[in-house]
Amino acid sequence: MSENHAAPSTVGQLSAHGDESAPEFYHPPEELVNNSNIMAYAREKGFADVEALRQWSVENYQEFWADMATRMVDWYQPFTTVLDESAAPFYQWFNDGSINIVHNALDRQVKTWRKNKVALIWESEQGDNKTFTYWQLYKRVNKFANVLKAMGVKNGDRVTIYLPRIPEIMIAMLACAKIGAMHSVVYGGFSVEALQTRIQDAQSRVLITADGGFLNGKIVELKKITDEAIKHSPVVETVIVVKRTGHDVPMEQGRDIWYHELMALPIASPKCETEPVGAEHPLYMLYTSGTTGTPKGLVHTHGGYQVGVATTMHFTFDIKEDDVWWCAADPGWVTGHSYIVYGPLILGATQVMYEGAPTFPYPNRWWNIVERYGVTVFYTAPTAIRGLMRFGEAWPSRHDLSSLRLLGSVGEPINPEAWRWYHRVVGKNNCPIMDTWWQTETGAFMITPNPTTPLKPGSGTRPFLGIDAAVVNEQGEPAGDDEDGLLVIKKPWPAMLRTVYNNPDRYIEQYWTKIPNLYTAGDSARQDDDGYFWVIGRIDDVIKVSGYRLGTAEVESALVSHHDVAEAAAIGLPHEVKGNAIHTFVILKNGVEASEDLADELIAHVGKMMGPIAKPEAINFVTSLPKTRSGKIMRRVLKSRALGLPEGDLSTLEA
Ligand code: PRX
Repeated sequence: MSENHAAPSTVGQLSAHGDESAPEFYHPPEELVNNSNIMAYAREKGFADVEALRQWSVENYQEFWADMATRMVDWYQPFTTVLDESAAPFYQWFNDGSINIVHNALDRQVKTWRKNKVALIWESEQGDNKTFTYWQLYKRVNKFANVLKAMGVKNGDRVTIYLPRIPEIMIAMLACAKIGAMHSVVYGGFSVEALQTRIQDAQSRVLITADGGFLNGKIVELKKITDEAIKHSPVVETVIVVKRTGHDVPMEQGRDIWYHELMALPIASPKCETEPVGAEHPLYMLYTSGTTGTPKGLVHTHGGYQVGVATTMHFTFDIKEDDVWWCAADPGWVTGHSYIVYGPLILGATQVMYEGAPTFPYPNRWWNIVERYGVTVFYTAPTAIRGLMRFGEAWPSRHDLSSLRLLGSVGEPINPEAWRWYHRVVGKNNCPIMDTWWQTETGAFMITPNPTTPLKPGSGTRPFLGIDAAVVNEQGEPAGDDEDGLLVIKKPWPAMLRTVYNNPDRYIEQYWTKIPNLYTAGDSARQDDDGYFWVIGRIDDVIKVSGYRLGTAEVESALVSHHDVAEAAAIGLPHEVKGNAIHTFVILKNGVEASEDLADELIAHVGKMMGPIAKPEAINFVTSLPKTRSGKIMRRVLKSRALGLPEGDLSTLEA
């Protein structure tokens, strides 16, 4: 199928197939196609259409990425090597180049007319708002970078950041990057156990938090959670606390210092040189749930990562100078790292950031923000769409959403019903939806439409430029049309993770051993006869709850840390809004009585240890769990039983 749009297309409407079984295509508006960044690049490269460009870019991926690395970002010292495969799968990109992501995000912007362009419009559910120009953001980052230096933070150190969705989270991340330190952001919705294990693994001596954050009109007690986590992580020497809520929090003398007091000191000079670093210098680590044990600290680097993020945002979301971008994710997740903190700044865009719930005080809050700031490109998750759909069309319909030109979706498969609602009610049949498949590991979009792609609801369509994705069977052979298989990436890409922090073996074992020499994503997928990808979901013990990635092992260990629990198993079952919900099976210790109160207590316990997002939907008290002869819990069997499906091959089940 061609993506040549010379033929007339039906704007935002179905193709006239006249055949019910024919695939349903939504064609993008002609004007959008013709003016798109990707079409301009295709024309410049002499391709008849974007699909021809895409095929060229996959075959010549090194040439393509080298071109992007030259166009999208500036280097202190240009690279001469594009890809170094000598230590594969520890790939290195542009490794003899010298760069810093903050140079491209801020320093170069303030040298142009963008100096006084608005970089960030921030608003909280409490009604307060702030605006930062590039110059203002640049100066804040410089000041805080000087503060960090004064606290003894050096190139290569790890700084843990545990903040709500406020401008200071961006400032803190950029300040770390500026001086060559790695940030390790822990999502503000996580709790004691999650924070503590991440601090411990990163060995951060400095931690940045706030007295609290706001969600649904309530205060999230970040400082109290931090205090508790630090009791078990003696490595932390300094805690910098942003005053956000103003409510009373205990401050420990000699350890805790207010951010605003530090920023008022002479050490917080607004001048700070950005540290040139090698392209492969680590930029950050971000923990993500894996199949077993503790979360993995995935490492991303300065060079390849920024090339990937800037390129994907430029071509997929078609960012132009006058766009107002709004990614409604949290900066604490990879979506926020790539498409709130770094991508928009590198492209010199104006963006909106909102702290709070989409339904506070009413379910029109988001649409109200779109209208007030004239948001042009909006990016969110299927779970949010499904949640807002429940309140009906009247809420979005009260607002003028005509500024929107593109929409996006990320985090889990979007069900066609939610897709159509988003397209019709929010996008007024005029805004193509970029359903972007990617992962914390991939750093940037991997399978995604672009503004020229005819869309099918629920499909991420085709791989991004320069990305060689495929669906294969367990032997690594290509799966047939519409046949389920493993989603793999066949060629390295610049924004890929480099390793698991302090655990290179785990990097190899997790991603590169299932099928030799191919990156396995941990997802199952299929490709239809148009070559479109349909991601089905995780094949490992990772559960996607409201788009958040949680490991069954982490939920189970939180349960087992309760004094009444002997053993526990967690599985994900379908949920109308969350996509999946966590259901658990618990064996109590001898002599402990099962009761509803105990079930509630266990749910609250998991919430306290891990964070509200990990709270199980149900606790089932059982006396045994299906296990393999080697003692592994067969979650697959629990899931089939819960869904009333055949239990499959039980030959390895313990007798
Ligand atoms: O299962 C896929 C799902 O989210 C996983 C990655 O989760 P995480 O590392 O938390 O990153 C989320 C934000 C990039 C994937 O392995 N996933 C993500 N986006 C999509 C998706 N599944 C289907 N369609 C998507 N667009």
